[in-house]
Amino acid sequence: MEELSLYHLLAIFFTALVFISKHLLQLKLSKPLAIPILGHLHLLRKPVHQSLASIASKHGHVLRLRFGSRPVLVVSSPSAAEECFTKNDIIFANRPCILSAKQLWYDNTAFVFSPFNPRWRAHRRFTSLHALTPSRLSKLLSEIRLLLRGLYSDDREGFQKIEIRSWFFELTVNLVMGMISGKRYSGEEKRSLKKLLEEIFLFSGATSMEDFVPLARWLGFSSMRRRIEATAKEMDEFLQGLIEERRKLGKWKESSSTIIDIMLTLQDKEPEDYNDVSIKGILESLITGGAETTPGTMEWAMALLLNHPEAMTKARAEIEEHVGHARLVMESDISKLRYLNNVIKETLRLFPTGPLLIPHESSEDCTVAGLHVPKGTMLLVNAYAMQRDPELWEDPLEFKPERFDAESNGDQGYKYKPFGSGRRRCPGETMAWKVIGLTLASLIQCFQWERVGEELVDLSEGMGLSMPMTTPMEVMYKPYPEMLGVLSQLE
Ligand code: HEM
Repeated sequence: MEELSLYHLLAIFFTALVFISKHLLQLKLSKPLAIPILGHLHLLRKPVHQSLASIASKHGHVLRLRFGSRPVLVVSSPSAAEECFTKNDIIFANRPCILSAKQLWYDNTAFVFSPFNPRWRAHRRFTSLHALTPSRLSKLLSEIRLLLRGLYSDDREGFQKIEIRSWFFELTVNLVMGMISGKRYSGEEKRSLKKLLEEIFLFSGATSMEDFVPLARWLGFSSMRRRIEATAKEMDEFLQGLIEERRKLGKWKESSSTIIDIMLTLQDKEPEDYNDVSIKGILESLITGGAETTPGTMEWAMALLLNHPEAMTKARAEIEEHVGHARLVMESDISKLRYLNNVIKETLRLFPTGPLLIPHESSEDCTVAGLHVPKGTMLLVNAYAMQRDPELWEDPLEFKPERFDAESNGDQGYKYKPFGSGRRRCPGETMAWKVIGLTLASLIQCFQWERVGEELVDLSEGMGLSMPMTTPMEVMYKPYPEMLGVLSQLE
């Protein structure tokens, strides 16, 4: 009897030991290690979306972390993302106040970084009613023609080499600048605007130590402050210059109108919502929204097509079938180009140019996936991680445009949100689709594209808010003989 109870005691002891150590291990795994002052910041490497994806795969798809003194919720699960953008959408409709947004985005008041307030609502309404309307894209076809004419040369024989990013940039920046100020940019002016916008994107995606550790500012640890200040000043002067040019022209009293003209008219009627600073905030949001993400997506799409020549051939065959060679692709053709649309969707799945969307912040306490989320928590929704999650996608790292034929015809739910969701979702999505679709279709219709050498294009991701390719891609191209007739007639 005594032996039996000793045996039982030992059994209970070992079972308990196994249970406790298993539990402790789980506890250890369920939350990454936070260290004093920095919290979980020490775990982050660049690019941050990749680093957060790897933390999520080890520790869970809904994580409450601490970046210095700031609570952060990292969401990489579709059901939790849905909770954030449906039942908690208003609560998460704020943006966090971070150094770069303070300096570069008019003290966090510029449309894209503004808190959720009546002025943001007015500006959002303005962009959908006056700024990002289909009629504003009337210049798209002529900008694409300029691009094609620029690429086409009389040297019809061999391939030529170009860096395609700058061509895509020229197209989108001129489209957006045409809409807002009626201006086109080329030569040196275009180069310096490109540099300025690249800096804005780089710094807007960057966070400074003092965003999370207030002590850092006091100790003067933040080296970024001065660099951001210089960029912000340059951008401000550029935007103010645009406003003054239109003001001097006085055209805003007429009905013809660029976006600046309409805002100057509203300045008379609603001076609070449309003072010069608000106007500059909207302009900056539209210019950066249009001129970084859209060309970036087109560059990724071309890179993927070059690495998968069979997909390029299929896209071209589809254009041949629906459009032929006697004329250029038109906007009305795009909806028929199903494979090309799938190529764009697949590009945005693998390389979303807003991998963590734009940070949101909670304005009240709430719960997500059963976790308590206090007011003032920064929300990072990792679209990049969800769009490459092996639990959610078959062969997630493979480029397979046809997967979008099979997948639930259109709506992928919250596992695929390259433009975000809810109140703060991208207002430029329709415009982006049109620009990307028509530009890629025209390029594939008119020119034969090849890689510079045998090696595959390097698909590594660079830094910054819009996840650019690390190195601007170089490509070889030549016009298709059957398109020479159309190309030579472009004015
Ligand atoms: C492929 C192209 C594009 C992608 C992938 C993209 C993606 C995004 C994403 C992920 C957001 C953040 C959503 C969130 O915070 O939840 C966003 C916001 C925004 N986008 Fe886009 N975008 C694109 C093109 C454009 C274009 C062409 C414009 C305008 C010309 C634009 C203007 C904006 C603005 C103004 C916001 C801020 C909205 C707000 O805070 O209320 N975007 N975009």
